[in-house]
Amino acid sequence: MADLKLTDVKKSFGNVAVLHGIDLDIKHGEFVVLVGASGCGKSTLLRLIAGLDEITSGSMEIGGEEVNGIAPAKRGIAMVFQSYALYPHMSVFKNMAFGLKVTGSDKASIQKKVEQAAKTLGIDHLLKRLPRELSGGQRQRVAIGRAIVRDPKVFLFDEPLSNLDAALRVQTRVEIGKLHKELGATIVYVTHDQVEAMTLGDKIVVMNAGRIEQCGTPLQLYQHPQTLFVAGFIGSPKMNFIEGIVKHISEDCLVLTLSDGTITKAYVDSSGCNLDDVVTFGIRPEHLTEDSSADVSLLATVTLVEQLGEASYLYLTLADGTEMVMRTSGESTTIIGEQVEVGFNPESGHVFDADGGALTRLRAGNTKSVAELAQIKAQLSN
Ligand SMILES: Nc1ncnc2c1ncn2[C@@H]1O[C@H](COP(=O)(O)OP(=O)(O)OP(=O)(O)O)[C@@H](O)[C@H]1O
Ligand SMILES: [Mg+2]
Repeated sequence: MADLKLTDVKKSFGNVAVLHGIDLDIKHGEFVVLVGASGCGKSTLLRLIAGLDEITSGSMEIGGEEVNGIAPAKRGIAMVFQSYALYPHMSVFKNMAFGLKVTGSDKASIQKKVEQAAKTLGIDHLLKRLPRELSGGQRQRVAIGRAIVRDPKVFLFDEPLSNLDAALRVQTRVEIGKLHKELGATIVYVTHDQVEAMTLGDKIVVMNAGRIEQCGTPLQLYQHPQTLFVAGFIGSPKMNFIEGIVKHISEDCLVLTLSDGTITKAYVDSSGCNLDDVVTFGIRPEHLTEDSSADVSLLATVTLVEQLGEASYLYLTLADGTEMVMRTSGESTTIIGEQVEVGFNPESGHVFDADGGALTRLRAGNTKSVAELAQIKAQLSN
């Protein structure tokens, strides 16, 4: 079993603290995606797991065994880097076989393993080529193949697709997803790509400045971000934020006056709220509509229209200067400078307190029973 357990893992380079106490529990076979702004410590964390750097304090277990101080080669981990790191003078076969040779596997079993991995990755016709005779996507698959043949307990991927063009990214992403299902391997995967994170991850870990901000399934993070940071990080284009003031409180709902004067309800747990509290109201671009008969509507001026074909993004400014983005499906006939009424259903809204903490949403997705709500709250507070 290749469970991975990190307990209060800290890392400093000299006197610069980079990771401030990471607790992470990854189950055998789980696909965990690490996301976070550049410099937040994602690669550092992968390098610590791989044993390429030493942790400053804390503990790390793989398959129930403490690995602090155990050499990288003995940890049963394979890491795939963004830069492929293939040996330029070796054929694809030799590149993939190298790790096995070093550990003393016999020729026949090396041959079998390499051929099998190459077939899985669709590169079996390329085994005799040198890396420079391959496309970027093919090279990346060789790098993944090299990891697979070692049959590691845990795969670590550090932005493996970021050098590929858009079409290859999609193709390789789908292949990695399938591979995970086939191999049943434990994977920790770093990416800056929202779609990769949402589609590949059983679990997403959002990091911020050397700390874990939130960890959950993709939809938990999308529907129930626990902080303003996570709300702004998960989703693209990002969630719109409007300042609001609490004007009325009832058990399952707040009434807010937004900074442009619009009044809206928000279905959140109101315990802990006081009248006149200043909060942040959040609404995702895809939850805004041009339908003026929506429950709540905002008056906005269009400042930019981006037509993507399957969708359009309207950039908007409210009366008080707050900027927002709206996503509509298909082509938009709206023109710059036009005044539009932008509607939303308050059930799609999020509310964050002055410290950036989210108030528990009570109607996210479908209207839920009281028992379900209690369950959601319990899950979220774990
Ligand atoms: N060997 C090192 N010595 C000193 N500081 C380092 C070292 N390696 C990383 N850092 C610092 O640690 C912080 C985290 O770096 P890390 O590479 O883990 O970020 P990241 O989240 O992977 O970012 P990116 O998304 O840009 O790859 C950065 O501020 C970086 O400058
Ligand atoms: Mg990195």
